[in-house]
Amino acid sequence: MVISGANRGSSRALSSPPELFGPSAVMCSERVQQSLQRRYQMLQTEGFNCKHPHLITWFFYMLCKHPLIQEKVAAEVKVATKSEGSKNDIAGFALSLSDEVIGKMQYLHAAITETLRLYPAVPVEGKRAVEDDVLPDGFEVKMGDRVNYISYAMGRMNYLWGEDAEVFHPERWLEDGVFKPESPFKFVSFNAGPRICFGKEFAYKQMKIMAATILHFFKFKLEDESKTDKYRTMFTLQIQDGLPLLAFHRSN
Ligand code: HEM
Repeated sequence: MVISGANRGSSRALSSPPELFGPSAVMCSERVQQSLQRRYQMLQTEGFNCKHPHLITWFFYMLCKHPLIQEKVAAEVKVATKSEGSKNDIAGFALSLSDEVIGKMQYLHAAITETLRLYPAVPVEGKRAVEDDVLPDGFEVKMGDRVNYISYAMGRMNYLWGEDAEVFHPERWLEDGVFKPESPFKFVSFNAGPRICFGKEFAYKQMKIMAATILHFFKFKLEDESKTDKYRTMFTLQIQDGLPLLAFHRSN
């Protein structure tokens, strides 16, 4: 893990991998050690994650296209923080967002997840087989074969999500107001299995703190209401021409 801002150069590594994963890591096999080492190195570079900006952009795009959902998120934040609205102390508000308070923001959690379902930061994922293997449906994969899956398409399949698969509907993730996760093999935006995103919980926490703080103080509209979700073709899913927004102070 790294303590840093956007400036990776000034990042400070906290510990070596055995220290990070506890003394038992020293006893692991060489293969596990290598895996931990690799994850640790990836964590160092992912501390300020390159996927966040895309998630934030798509999240605000969806909230602007669905103003009632934006208001629902803001209302939930207000209740969870018991804030009657000190409209000036933004930094103080952000600092008050403890794990317990963030944990109460189940609708926000669902709205972030719904954004990632429709706009996965990594829209196509690929792996290469290091040895012969057989997929669960019996399909044989030979050593060296590449297997790709398209998270973007999977997030929009009626077969997986029902007839309203293309609709932004955070409620689909809630049961009695509590977030109900799906199998990572169905909701694949963070990958699944042994290579599932190592920073998933951290990413949610960062996103929730940022979104709760901004939406508590401001409401947003698209500068151009006619803007649609056109993509830049990249490894990560980016919106074309950026997302100019208009921000209105909530006290107005
Ligand atoms: C919106 C936020 C994020 C998304 C959508 C995301 C998504 C993903 C995906 C799809 C993978 C699989 C990549 C692959 O196997 O080729 C991955 C791996 C990984 N992610 Fe994330 N990630 C996010 C945030 C983060 C953050 C904040 C951290 C670190 C604090 C992080 C750390 C990692 C690491 C270390 C791996 C490699 C895991 C491994 O292969 O063992 N991620 N992430």
